Amino acid sequence: MCGIVGYLGNGNAYDVLIKGLHRLEYRGYDSAGIAMVSPAGKLNVFKAKGKVENLETLCKDKDTNATIGIAHTRWATHGEPSDTNAHPHYSEDGELALVHNGTIENYKLLRDVLEEHGCTFHSETDTEVLVQLIEYIKVKNNCSLLDAVREALHQVVGAYAIAVIEKNNPDTIVAARQSSPLVIGIGEDDTFLASDATPFVEYTQNAVYLKDGEIAVIQRGEPLKIFDLDNCESKIDVKTLELTISQLEKGGYPSFMLKEIFEQPTTLRECIRGRVVDGGRKILLNGVLDNKEVFKNAKRIVIVACGTSWHASLIGKYLIQEMCHIPVEVEYASEFRYSCPVLTKDDIVIALSQSGETADTLAAVKIARDMGAFVFGISNAVGSSIPRETDSGAYIHVGPEIGVASTKAFTGQVMVLTILALAIAELRESMPQEKVAELGKHLLEIPELVEHVLKLDEEVKRLSLIYTYARNFLYLGRGYNYPVALEGALKLKEISYIHAEGYPAAEMKHGPIALIDAEMPSVIIAPQDHLYEKIVSNVQQVKARGGSIIAIVTEGDSVIRNIADHVLEIPEVPECLSPIITSIPLQLLSYYIAVNKGKNVDMPRNLAKSVTVE
Ligand code: F6R
Repeated sequence: MCGIVGYLGNGNAYDVLIKGLHRLEYRGYDSAGIAMVSPAGKLNVFKAKGKVENLETLCKDKDTNATIGIAHTRWATHGEPSDTNAHPHYSEDGELALVHNGTIENYKLLRDVLEEHGCTFHSETDTEVLVQLIEYIKVKNNCSLLDAVREALHQVVGAYAIAVIEKNNPDTIVAARQSSPLVIGIGEDDTFLASDATPFVEYTQNAVYLKDGEIAVIQRGEPLKIFDLDNCESKIDVKTLELTISQLEKGGYPSFMLKEIFEQPTTLRECIRGRVVDGGRKILLNGVLDNKEVFKNAKRIVIVACGTSWHASLIGKYLIQEMCHIPVEVEYASEFRYSCPVLTKDDIVIALSQSGETADTLAAVKIARDMGAFVFGISNAVGSSIPRETDSGAYIHVGPEIGVASTKAFTGQVMVLTILALAIAELRESMPQEKVAELGKHLLEIPELVEHVLKLDEEVKRLSLIYTYARNFLYLGRGYNYPVALEGALKLKEISYIHAEGYPAAEMKHGPIALIDAEMPSVIIAPQDHLYEKIVSNVQQVKARGGSIIAIVTEGDSVIRNIADHVLEIPEVPECLSPIITSIPLQLLSYYIAVNKGKNVDMPRNLAKSVTVE
């Protein structure tokens, strides 16, 4: 969470930074700020509570002339969202300004020491401690900014991506990272830095991903230099970005979320491309093919993830257990890391994360590697931390997901997990080859079926009007569609702020059934699968208690149609492939309910897309 951006070059720093902040706003949007050194040698710092547009309004009549600057969009951790707590923070003598993404765990201790040395603090943030510490060291040791940053980082415990500028040196930015992402864009006459590559993709395709413990020195007219914390110079590894501007724009849709929902036929095709070939008869997943022995011999798979990715992981468990007969455990990464996990060399740990930067998932990856397990990362963001920290993995290839509520990444994750399960099943011969080929063939049809389901759009929109003012929702599903119920409930609550609970349908009678009355709609995912008869009785149980029912059913269903208040029909699909299809109407339902309520679906309150703090 929090996005940072920096610029040094010949152009107008303000324009680049503000545009960059808009691109990074998905990472946090409770306040924003910018610091620039003007040609007259003034360090201008402007900060505003709220979204980036508030900062723009503030800056309208200010001196924003500069060719160097840093900026920040915040998701508050230490200290409430306010102008004062917004970044950049500056040193007491006004010499340095700094932006930070992450958390400094020992900030209290450092603050006490600095206060003893006469420093006064103005904000409640951990970040201000860092900038004061750097300036304190710089003055005390009479050293360069680079040396002061290095020494300060030796004293800091925690996670950070930082960028620092100096009033008296309009030609240098020093940046560093530890556990929070930072990427540097190298243009012809300009250098950029940001939490991800989106702020500079229109200026350059050349990117250098900073590694943990590295400090970068961006100097006007000089090539980029990178050092480790012991001051040894690192090799610069320039990567070419696979990102296009159109992927970062709404493309005529009113929101990124709707664009991303409708993109799913395309993104799923991308996800399958080159992996399910020969009409479905061949499954090619490099991460498995390159590690055949590991996948052949694994005794257990543990999947670690958070939020929506955790829901996709649960579907992965059903898939792998059914197809590969390997026991699978699914863990919240935040719990896994503190649960004294027991892992052996025969275990595979799968880390599932859209952003590839979720702090808890990343921590789980490190623990798993330290314990000797083979770690397989499934991520969307190319070049992010999880793919770099894992032994092997697969990208979901759905393009940047900007709407905070995950949609296309969820279906992409489920798709990759399905391909992974099929690849392992093929390798271990745990499923007859004909069955693998049959599912492979169906998998190739999924993007078209998603296209078909998206035609429910108008129907769901109408339906949403009936339920916009419901205060609670229950989402029920069984088997493969139990995680879809969890995901449907999460989508609704995060963007419409309506309380919703996802439950395994059969568990309802062990408690939640007490909640059901005329005021409590239930969304029941009930395609025609091997649990169909059982879920019909769950539907009847809800109806008998006066609850209204929206049911997701297979086309032609006549039984549930006669019980439920509303049905949304989906095409017939093999049970294990149904979650991708059944999740689409639930995405649309949550979307329209939130829109009807006037909510900002792309930037729901209190949330951020990439959770890089614990
Ligand atoms: C909800 C949502 C979050 C993320 C979670 C993990 O719509 O997007 O629950 O799924 O924060 O993020 P990643 O997948 O980036 O690790």
